[in-house]
Amino acid sequence: MQQLKNKTARLISLSVEKNFGEGLLTAEEIAAMLEYPPDRAMGDVALPCFRLSKTLRRSPIDIAKTLAEAVVCEEYSSVTALNGYLNFKISPTAFAKRVVGEVLSKGDRYGSPECGEGRTVVLDYSSPNVAKPFHIGHLGTTVIGHSLKLLHEFAGYKCVGINYLGDWGTQFGKLIVAYKMWGDRKTVEEGGVDELVKLYVRINNAIKDEEEASENKKSPLADASRAEFTKLEHGDEENLELWRWFVGVSLEEYQKTYKLLGIEFDSYKGESFYTDKMPAQVEKLRNMGLLEIDDGASIVNLDKWNMPVCLILKRDGSTLYPTRDIAAAVYRKSEYNFDKAIYVTSAAQSLHFAQWFKVVELMGYDWYDKLVHVPYGTVSINGAKLATRTGNVILLKDLFAEAISRVEEIAAEKHPDKDECRAIAEKVGVGAIVFHYLSNNRMRDINFVMEDALSFDGNTGPYAQYTYARTTSVLEKAGSDGVMTDAPLSDYEFELAKALSVFPERVNAAIADYEPSVITRYILDLAAAFNRFYHECSIAGCEDTELKSSRIALTKATRQVLGTALHLICMQSPDKI
Ligand code: ARG
Repeated sequence: MQQLKNKTARLISLSVEKNFGEGLLTAEEIAAMLEYPPDRAMGDVALPCFRLSKTLRRSPIDIAKTLAEAVVCEEYSSVTALNGYLNFKISPTAFAKRVVGEVLSKGDRYGSPECGEGRTVVLDYSSPNVAKPFHIGHLGTTVIGHSLKLLHEFAGYKCVGINYLGDWGTQFGKLIVAYKMWGDRKTVEEGGVDELVKLYVRINNAIKDEEEASENKKSPLADASRAEFTKLEHGDEENLELWRWFVGVSLEEYQKTYKLLGIEFDSYKGESFYTDKMPAQVEKLRNMGLLEIDDGASIVNLDKWNMPVCLILKRDGSTLYPTRDIAAAVYRKSEYNFDKAIYVTSAAQSLHFAQWFKVVELMGYDWYDKLVHVPYGTVSINGAKLATRTGNVILLKDLFAEAISRVEEIAAEKHPDKDECRAIAEKVGVGAIVFHYLSNNRMRDINFVMEDALSFDGNTGPYAQYTYARTTSVLEKAGSDGVMTDAPLSDYEFELAKALSVFPERVNAAIADYEPSVITRYILDLAAAFNRFYHECSIAGCEDTELKSSRIALTKATRQVLGTALHLICMQSPDKI
């Protein structure tokens, strides 16, 4: 549609030049004024002429009338003036021919804004904390992050996906103490990250008990944990060995979830990697006079920007979350020379990002404005909020496993082959969760209801994938190849062609707003248009060969675009369900 709008705007601007004089209105200005009338009887595209009246020194009625005679375009079956509006009616056949032709010739590049050529985007997402649960709260960063990566890749950017693992910090001191006290190799090897989380939860509880039992909130276990972490920081071989092992065990487990989602990271450089890169940044801050001492801690005062202070060093000289992020950003800039660095985290971290982005600016790094924080809202399950500290949380892997097994039960009847059934259930089950999650604007807090996500009748992932599978089976049945002919088309075909035509605009919007849900909603629009067409028009059985050819081509184009769109939101498109 945007293309047709642009073309129309160019034609209008030429006519304006001829009839009203040069240099009055650019094609871009006109394109921005074009509207889709709410009532289709009026036209498919319209130019309200009221705002032009001042520039062109004529009445809107007059302007519309003059232009209606002057503008000619083969894709419009009529151009008329009515009450100060210039109305364009599209010729369905000519329009669909162009759109479908473009989809089929561009194939899986159709819809790409091609704006990223030669540019690099670094995306920091998922990034779970080792030995803490990888839970449903991470669903957002994982799938929004990956979808943004796919969208940017689609636009031609070179993308670097970074999993900034939480693989460093005092929790490792606690874990080492807990493991030495209660753990053993075999149990951890078998139980994996769950076992580590158990140990972590157990020591946290034990520390709490000790603190409550002592008068001055003292906990020997907490002291021991700090001591073990200090040993780790100083390179103690035994502790380093344990730490590497804990990270490895956790990563192995995360990989299983990533594999289900088709996610691969380009870098797993986690928090630990930046330990030796922080002093230089702290030094720079100090030399620039940006550090202030506040109750023993080193901070950057952000009063002027209405933000609380950004903590750089604790009283004991240890570094903090912002310090590490600053060092990581500097490293990534030199390593990848990014044009954009995107960070996807829950909105609870928005202040943290605003603060350290500001500090980067104050440090004189001229790329501070290339840092983008993409926040998202909270998730609850069946109305229950998550408890994070207690270990009583819904793990991401369990959420997916549950969805997969439910689909498996339903699919077993149709797919007696166990492996095939499992493969389909994985695609549909995982897709259902991703689709459900990405249906809402990312900032919205959502309540996750499994039944809603898995339903086949509703605006769900299974419904979208089912529609895709339907295009495949229609094409198989039709047997022959299709191209767009001059056969007159009905509104069903026309609406489908229109849905296909807006895909590039939607991709642009999704990238501009960092909002994958734009694509999810687009998939629903396209699926609805296709299903209406499918129910109303016979495709493989159409007797008119010209019309049949057009309908097959429309189906092929739908399959192409649906497949691309599903891919952009981390979903698979199975040919059979
Ligand atoms: N590991 C952190 C968490 O789970 C998220 C890290 C986000 N990325 C960053 N560069 N700070 O809360």
